[in-house]
Amino acid sequence: MKSQKLAIAELVAPVVGLSTSDVAALIEYPPNEDMGDLALPCFRFAKQLRKAPTEIAKDVATTLTESGAFSKVDVAGGYVNVYLSHSGVARQVIQTLRSNPLFLFSEERQKGDSFAIDYSSPNIAKPFGVGHLRSTMIGHAIANLLRADGSTVIGINHLGDWGTQFGKNIAAYRMWGDEETVRQNPTRELLALYVRFHAEAEKNPNLEDEGRAWFKRLEDGDEEARALWQWFIDESLKAFQATYDRLGIHHEYVLGESFYNDKMDAVVDELREKGLLVESQGAEVVDLSAYDLPPCIIRKSDGATIYATRDLAAAIYRHDVLGGNHLIYVVGGEQTLHFQQVFKVLELMGREWAKDCRHVAFGMMKYNGERLSTRRGKIIYLEDVLEKAVAEAMRIIEEKNPSLPNKSDVAEAVGIGAVVFNDLKNYRMHEVDFRYEDVLNFDGETGPYVQYTHARACSVLRKAGSDWEKGTSVEAIVIGNDGMGNDAVGSSAGPGINADGSSGELHPSEWRLVVEMNKANEVFERAIDQLDPSLVARLVLDVCHAFNRFYHDVPILSAGTESDKMFRLGLTDATRAFIAYCLNLLGLRAPEAM
Ligand code: ARG
Repeated sequence: MKSQKLAIAELVAPVVGLSTSDVAALIEYPPNEDMGDLALPCFRFAKQLRKAPTEIAKDVATTLTESGAFSKVDVAGGYVNVYLSHSGVARQVIQTLRSNPLFLFSEERQKGDSFAIDYSSPNIAKPFGVGHLRSTMIGHAIANLLRADGSTVIGINHLGDWGTQFGKNIAAYRMWGDEETVRQNPTRELLALYVRFHAEAEKNPNLEDEGRAWFKRLEDGDEEARALWQWFIDESLKAFQATYDRLGIHHEYVLGESFYNDKMDAVVDELREKGLLVESQGAEVVDLSAYDLPPCIIRKSDGATIYATRDLAAAIYRHDVLGGNHLIYVVGGEQTLHFQQVFKVLELMGREWAKDCRHVAFGMMKYNGERLSTRRGKIIYLEDVLEKAVAEAMRIIEEKNPSLPNKSDVAEAVGIGAVVFNDLKNYRMHEVDFRYEDVLNFDGETGPYVQYTHARACSVLRKAGSDWEKGTSVEAIVIGNDGMGNDAVGSSAGPGINADGSSGELHPSEWRLVVEMNKANEVFERAIDQLDPSLVARLVLDVCHAFNRFYHDVPILSAGTESDKMFRLGLTDATRAFIAYCLNLLGLRAPEAM
């Protein structure tokens, strides 16, 4: 859908000698309605055009007025204020949302790019903590956004399934482990064994050697070591899968760190050939001091490759074999330096696509105000959090709507949705604090609040019964009492713009709702450019606030006239579609009743 901003920008661009997109980016939503629906400040053009902003504003206003596409155009100082046909915009929003919510993406953005996104990537033999939830849900939402924008998305789960830790896991299991216990609760049991290993190793340092020896055997392909390691992976993956199913997560590829074991020699050789490897205290490193970065260790003094080496091999594989031309890493902010080093080394290796690699960092997850740490044993299991949130949602539903038919299914959608939305609603670099009271508050800025607003819209439409069928055509919706609703759709004047300058009056609460939904296009573009799903979460919250205001201020089913009623039902239906679409993008379900 062509936005009104774009329509204005197309007319203004030739007048001020800038590109359409540059002009569109300058257009603002004025703070109050006697300054129009959209405003263009003309100060920026003054230098280039050698003219006073007021004069430029007058020229711009003349062009816009002559187009006949707007209700009214005013000049106020250096600003041009544009008044839109409210009914025209409303009709267009309703029409597009009811036919295809994908209107949110204008076609020219579908660039055919492909993005390989590394997200979730938990460590095997440890439980899925709430910390990895952030990577999982932010990555999932970004993947959905990019897909909706027409890009190809390759989701990758870069499991932490290799390293000296596994030697310790094997040693511990052989000493104290029990097959049945691990089978029943693989990740918790393996973590318990690992923690016990560390505790005992403090008293008995020989254990460390034992762990190292087992890792060596694993690397050398020893049968027993391999079999145990593989079993740990299989059991852990089964446990992760249950969580992924609940969250609705699916990766195109699950390629753990071990997958790159046979792909690292080529990287090391290439680095050596290109003269990038230097020796430093027995280890082989790439010196990055010229870029103000610490050296990137490629091979340790004992010949072992490390995390960074694997990431180099993985990046090359993702680009060359999987065909990702943008590589995205959704990983906590504490790994920022690691990714700076990896991207720099790729660049020095001559991979020009290194400039298209992006670390999408995020802030820590706190739990009731406290930081979490696996090492200090302060780990909060995601399964427990989800379980408790669902139980809590169930309790609230029992209280509010005990006769709801599919209560447990709705409680699942609401409980999980509460946890997920809490993770996505703030700018990703901010820390997230998790408190059940807050995330499940139906009146706060929460997942349940958005889901509840959606269910409310569904309920209005259900009550309308045969007066409102999903198939009701937009032509049947007449806006305003004057019936002049037939102005915009398909008219040559442009989208949502009233050719004859008339405006079917909208109630202010109706208009506010239309305005919020009409921001979708630009907000989605920004969310994609900044890889920031919180912009979508904030937008859907704004739409929910506007809908609830509309719901309280304006009678829908008992509207004074039939045409008002049809229009308001159309708006309600559009809101329903809008909220459901945003919730799904963010990875939440949208129950029709709750
Ligand atoms: N497993 C790592 C961790 O939990 C995250 C891996 C991120 N992805 C990557 N390609 N390094 O810290």
